[in-house]
Amino acid sequence: MNRRRFLQVSAAAAACSLQGFAEKKHKAAAPSLTDVTGERSLRAHAEARGLLVGCAVVPEHLDGETDYAATVAAQSNILVPENAMKWQALRPAADRFDFRAADEILMFAEGHGQKLRGHNLCWHEALPSWFESTVNADNARRFLTEHIQTVAGRYAGKLHSWDVVNEAIDIHSGRADGLRKSPWLEFLGPGYLEIAFQAAKQADPNALLTYNDYGIETDAPDQTEKRAQVLMLVRRLVARRVPIDAVGVQSHLAAGDKPGAGLRDFVRELGRMGLQVFVTEMDVNEQKLEGSVAERDAGVAELYKDYLTMMLAEPNVTAVLTWGITDRYTWLNSDQKHLRPDGKPQRPLPFDSDYQPAPAYFAMRDALDSRAGKEGAPVKSSPDADPYAPFTPKGAAPKLMRQ
Ligand code: G3I
Repeated sequence: MNRRRFLQVSAAAAACSLQGFAEKKHKAAAPSLTDVTGERSLRAHAEARGLLVGCAVVPEHLDGETDYAATVAAQSNILVPENAMKWQALRPAADRFDFRAADEILMFAEGHGQKLRGHNLCWHEALPSWFESTVNADNARRFLTEHIQTVAGRYAGKLHSWDVVNEAIDIHSGRADGLRKSPWLEFLGPGYLEIAFQAAKQADPNALLTYNDYGIETDAPDQTEKRAQVLMLVRRLVARRVPIDAVGVQSHLAAGDKPGAGLRDFVRELGRMGLQVFVTEMDVNEQKLEGSVAERDAGVAELYKDYLTMMLAEPNVTAVLTWGITDRYTWLNSDQKHLRPDGKPQRPLPFDSDYQPAPAYFAMRDALDSRAGKEGAPVKSSPDADPYAPFTPKGAAPKLMRQ
């Protein structure tokens, strides 16, 4: 996005906010549902409680679509690139980086007083096409550390946090430690996580270093097992004094899911270790919901409200991001396996495809309002708890898959 375009987009975003403000000034009675800017925005309700709220963004839409840019600007005080900071996007060649898309997102965030998350420095997916034929056991450590030094170094001091390692646990891997069989594990062993976190800390001492994962939100047996493995992984990292500050709970939920005590206890355990928790990628997959749009929207909104109210009751939960802001561009409608049986597009996000706030929007805002006041800052680990004490899981160890 060049400067002229950026100024255009910013002016449009500001105009949208002003228009909302102007409408509000002259609209005596109940505001129209579309007037959710300014003090009615998610951003305002989050900031009133010392919280961060935002969404994953795509630079092409920030640059090319005024409604998209205006909605992102009005509703968010934190952003995360959906794809622009992944290896696949940053590394067109083994010896070349392309930061243009990522830089556009950073410029937009800085121009709108928004924080920015980095996503992600080490993952088994979204690896560039040259990776498989180039990276091996002899050079993997160099590739990983140079990638992190270059990328996290470029944005040092400018990011709120990094998803340093993404989705390292796979309970079906057959490993006692539950680690996913990824190229990083194959080439570097379980120590690859520590290598990544240490490199990130050295490159950007200011960013909150985060382990991010999915499928750990409900009390279903598989999610309970995965959550236990994630907790043991985090405990091992903390015990080895690996610099980790937060855990990202992706929160790709499905309508009908029930937020359970297991996740709340997990969040509290992390709080006792002095770790923050971010809701990093929330959306509600409603492909199995039947009924009218209004009935489907109500089911989605109910889960947003119940889940976020539970999470935001925990002081160490400090940020909520949805995976996109409008149904128009949700990944769930671009992936065959998530299509609804009736062929209708999914409605998983706070704004519908016409940028109208959905019931989920108001549910999110109510959940933000349920948070105690500004004192809801991340808990400090309790003085007597030694976060580096070796972890002994409470109760029975999780049922681990054996080879
Ligand atoms: O940019 C290329 C384009 O040049 C090419 O023409 C096109 C056709 O192949 O592909 C485009 O890249 C796609 C990219 O999204 C950008 O649209 C990739 O193929 C596609 O695999 C990629 O999907 C993303 C996926 O992660 C894999 O990186 C989704 O948009 C994104 O929503 C999804 O997000 C993940 C999080 O990063 C981690 N947690 C789960 C979440 C959902 O899967």
